[in-house]
Amino acid sequence: MGSFTTSSILLFLFLSVVTSLPLSTNSRWIVDNGGRRVKLACVNWASHMEPVLAEGLSKQPMDTIAKRIVSMGFNCVRFTWPLYLITNDSLALLTVRQSFQRLNLLESLAGIQTNNPSIIDVPLIKAYQA
Ligand SMILES: *[C@@H]1O[C@H](CO)[C@@H](O)[C@H](O)[C@H]1NC(C)=O
Repeated sequence: MGSFTTSSILLFLFLSVVTSLPLSTNSRWIVDNGGRRVKLACVNWASHMEPVLAEGLSKQPMDTIAKRIVSMGFNCVRFTWPLYLITNDSLALLTVRQSFQRLNLLESLAGIQTNNPSIIDVPLIKAYQA
C-alpha cells in the first residue's frame, strides 16, 4: 500500500482569521485584498492514510478540531489526500463506513459514529467537502 503515501496537498484558509479575501501575490509577498501582507501559519492534517479520511474524526467533532487549530494561532491547514481518491472511482465511492469496515477499524468507526455521525455513510470523495 505504498501508493497511498503519494498525496496531494490542499490548503484551507480559516476565513475568520484572514480578514480581506481574496489573497494574491505582490512580488515575493502574499497580500490580502487591501494589499496588506498576510503570513500563513499552516498546520498539517493528514488524510492520505489507508482509510482515506482526515485523521482524528473518530476522536473529536470536525468543528472542535477546526476551532482548536484556530485557537492555537494557525490560519491555514495543509490537508493531504491520496491521488487515488481522484483516479480510482471504486475507492472514491466507498462510504466512510465501508472504508473503515474493510480495514477492520471498527473501534474508529464507532468513534466516527459518535463524533461525526453526518459523514459516516457519505462516499469518501464527498467526506472531503464536509
Ligand atoms: C481502487 O480501489 C479499490 C478499493 O481500495 C482497490 O481494491 C482497487 O485495487 C483499486 N484499483 C486500482 C486500479 O488501483
